[in-house]
Amino acid sequence: MEFEHKSVLYKETLDALVTKLDGIYVDCTLGGAGHASGVVQRLNEKALFIGFDQDPAALAAGKERLQQASCRIELVHSNFQHFNRVLDALGIDKVDGVVFDLGVSSHQLDIAERGFSYMQDGPLDMRMNPTQKLSAYQVVNEYSVEKLAEIIFSYGEERWAKRIARSIAQAREAGPIKTTAELTEAIKKAIPAAARREGPHPAKRTFQAIRIEVNNELGILRDTFTAVVERLNEKGRICIITFHSLEDRIAKKTLVELAKGCVCPKDFPVCVCNHAPQVKILGKPVAPSPAELEENPRSRSARLRVAEKL
Ligand SMILES: C[S@@+](CC[C@H](N)C(=O)[O-])C[C@H]1O[C@@H](n2cnc3c(N)ncnc32)[C@H](O)[C@@H]1O
Repeated sequence: MEFEHKSVLYKETLDALVTKLDGIYVDCTLGGAGHASGVVQRLNEKALFIGFDQDPAALAAGKERLQQASCRIELVHSNFQHFNRVLDALGIDKVDGVVFDLGVSSHQLDIAERGFSYMQDGPLDMRMNPTQKLSAYQVVNEYSVEKLAEIIFSYGEERWAKRIARSIAQAREAGPIKTTAELTEAIKKAIPAAARREGPHPAKRTFQAIRIEVNNELGILRDTFTAVVERLNEKGRICIITFHSLEDRIAKKTLVELAKGCVCPKDFPVCVCNHAPQVKILGKPVAPSPAELEENPRSRSARLRVAEKL
């Protein structure tokens, strides 16, 4: 199957990211190398491009797509939470730009066997990295009702979280829930008919929540963004594309913290914290244009945030 993924906010991201044609650039979420191929096209042969992905299928597709690049390329099968470790191993101290395009790719969503989608039946998996142990199967079948409800509520912002967790527990009494269709069925049963008819697909929020739990998607963001900013050269840029309010809140909060100087209480006569701002936030978050929304409805919730190292 071809690696199908339309890169969101493509031009906006490249324009914000690439400022030095012979620089060192990192794509922490290579995916199908959509953004990456645009980045390497703008770079010259002295530049270096590094791509991370925790999904080997994405790396293979990315490698193929970047074959024609004139700059040096390093592709790494790693979670981006190991950003510092990977750069150390490559002998690189500072970089000129880093991009994050968070979440799953359309390719991952579209392959039923990966178990990410409520639109197609597949095994309960949802692992971006197929070598990790925890999968959606364990979350759905082994977590307590209370823990499930908490995850569905906090990572899915789902108002029916408790009912859904109870419905899942009831369904698994008859035997383990093995497929995305069985899970979708249990979710639908829990949501009152009137609520099911309005808004997005009734399983959307719960699937998002379980996927976030399986891949620990939120827990690593703040520390990784902070580590990345630390390793940016002066005027280097960090570009973060988020797809839902939970990710976006973390991106916003972390950049605002890094852009802040003194954090002493207001009534302190002199600064004792010695905090210096590390970045300047560039502009407001960017949303897809009407033309992009028409061409790619999946881009609807995307937001791009950019900051520049001081
Ligand atoms: C939205 S896609 C990126 C698409 C890419 N920008 C493009 O234009 O083709 C996100 C990719 O990031 C990867 N990913 C998500 N979280 C990751 C993490 N913590 N570490 C490494 N890769 C991650 C996923 O496996 C997926 O392939």
